[in-house]
Amino acid sequence: MELQAWLTQATHRLEAVGFPSAKMESQLLAGHAMLVDRAWILTHPDHEVNELALESLLQRREQHEPLAYILGYREFFGRRFRVDTNVLIPRHETEILIEEALRTEDRILRVLDIGTGSGCIAVTLKLERPSWDVWATDISSPALQMARENAELLGADIHFRHSNLFEQLSDMQFDLIVSNPPYIGRDEPLPIEVKEFEPNSALFADHQGLAIYEAIASEIGNHLAPGGQLILEIGQTQGQAVQNLFPASQVKKDLDGNDRIVVWTR
Ligand SMILES: C[S@@+](CC[C@H](N)C(=O)[O-])C[C@H]1O[C@@H](n2cnc3c(N)ncnc32)[C@H](O)[C@@H]1O
Repeated sequence: MELQAWLTQATHRLEAVGFPSAKMESQLLAGHAMLVDRAWILTHPDHEVNELALESLLQRREQHEPLAYILGYREFFGRRFRVDTNVLIPRHETEILIEEALRTEDRILRVLDIGTGSGCIAVTLKLERPSWDVWATDISSPALQMARENAELLGADIHFRHSNLFEQLSDMQFDLIVSNPPYIGRDEPLPIEVKEFEPNSALFADHQGLAIYEAIASEIGNHLAPGGQLILEIGQTQGQAVQNLFPASQVKKDLDGNDRIVVWTR
């Protein structure tokens, strides 16, 4: 079969499952199977393809496996991060947390990212502010392994610790603490792509999704230096509840107008 014919058929099949970017996804899947980029795919419509290899990728996507897990990467803040099913796929909304963190004055800071997952936050901060001393923790060893891999591939020098929140950081203090913790309540409805494929430990928290914020609030005094800043990503309905945990904090919105981060200065 020629590539163009496969692309047309794959686009129809992905549209039938309800994916709005079916055409682009088909091109990316073909490029992934053939180890070429999208530009090559677009310029070689007559190329003969191995239907069998393409079919298995297409079926995975039809079954709602996220495209990022099939391709093995996701772009975040202009860089490519490797991902697999051990880590949350970096979200565009999280870039607002990065922008807020980069507003912090540009001096040498000690920075902590709690629940680093793919490492997208810690690695981005280190690459955008090379003078910062960046630390990152995660409770999941496989996630931490992926974060280390991304740090190495992108050339970011970060101190990683396998830790439940602050446990392995003893009495360390930080000038800036950031986190996109699990914040979804255990009974909240979710799309299949998220619920069936992304790691539960990255998604859910007890107490309507507030448990990790509560745990951070109870320990923050020991780890945030006086005058230091805490920036937390939140679910869009959690602004008031998280603000209550950090008196005089500010809630900021994402580009869609939803509450997205809480900023607190000690
Ligand atoms: C929502 S994901 C965020 C991942 C990444 N920072 C991002 O923004 O894409 C939350 C991460 O927190 C980690 N995590 C969950 N509970 C934790 C805990 N008690 N201590 C440290 N990390 C935790 C999970 O393993 C997961 O990698």
